[in-house]
Amino acid sequence: MCNDVQVLQEEIRHLLRQKNAILLAHYYQRDEIQEIADFLGDSLALSMNAARTKADVIVFAGVHFMAESAAILCPEKTVLLPRLKAGCPLADTITAEELETARKQYPDAAVVTYINSSAAVKAKSDIICTSANAVRVVNSIKDRNRILMVPDGNLARYTARFTDKEIIPWRGFCPVHHYVTPDEVKAVKAHHPGAKFAAHPECTEEVLALADFIGSTTGIIRYARETDAKEIIIGTERGVMYQLRMQNPNKTFILASERLFCETMRSITLEDVRDALEEMKHIITVPAAIAAPAKKALDRMLEIS
Ligand code: 13P
Ligand code: SF4
Repeated sequence: MCNDVQVLQEEIRHLLRQKNAILLAHYYQRDEIQEIADFLGDSLALSMNAARTKADVIVFAGVHFMAESAAILCPEKTVLLPRLKAGCPLADTITAEELETARKQYPDAAVVTYINSSAAVKAKSDIICTSANAVRVVNSIKDRNRILMVPDGNLARYTARFTDKEIIPWRGFCPVHHYVTPDEVKAVKAHHPGAKFAAHPECTEEVLALADFIGSTTGIIRYARETDAKEIIIGTERGVMYQLRMQNPNKTFILASERLFCETMRSITLEDVRDALEEMKHIITVPAAIAAPAKKALDRMLEIS
């Protein structure tokens, strides 16, 4: 029996074929979008996939910086963001002007910028990283001992554990992960004494101290598959629960906090995806003067990934 969701999904599949388009979706997207994505992934895998797709059109079910990264990596393709207002509050915690000022303050530091940032900020960076490769990226820098890591302070402090370099963290944070409290995690652990806790490095140091595993969304999904534990507490946005439950029907997943909800990621609907394809909107472009240096920083990351 067909319901409205299936009808919309079928319409989208048809439009994707008709326009030689590919639907890329982040693990934080709604279940019904994940169900029909051509490719699902964390920020690193999505960038890598965008860089090598043969499709003419990329529909990016994710937030603005993700579509912008795809537009930078594939200037010859049309990149559509189904909901223009789907931004990332973490990316908004630093502007290109602020980074310029910080660079002057730390002239001997290399700038490692989290992919959760605007194209203009990427353009002023030495290299980009994601949560999946931050340690590798920082340790790949051979000619500097000081690293200014922007914009996520929590990821910067976590990365500092795995390098001899001095890490200078920016003050930004992801509100979804940052506001999970150690007390919330301890309370969930108390209810599930045998459970393991897997957390994203965008969480605070105090929350990460309680974790059995720390990693990107792909890392958490892999850990959940490989661990012998039957109960796993999840310290990242609730969208990953869809993959976790699909891949592990015999395991139980519990969210570490009810606050693990990214409003902008989840604002994208199937209707938005359908309308984006039908009307070829919203086309994301990056001016050449910004795209060229931003691509250099992204390419440096992809070369070592
Ligand atoms: P990853 O999927 O790369 O772990 O990133 C998490 C995130 O916050 C994306 O916005
Ligand atoms: Fe940005 Fe956090 Fe939402 Fe990811 S989860 S898009 S970092 S606000």
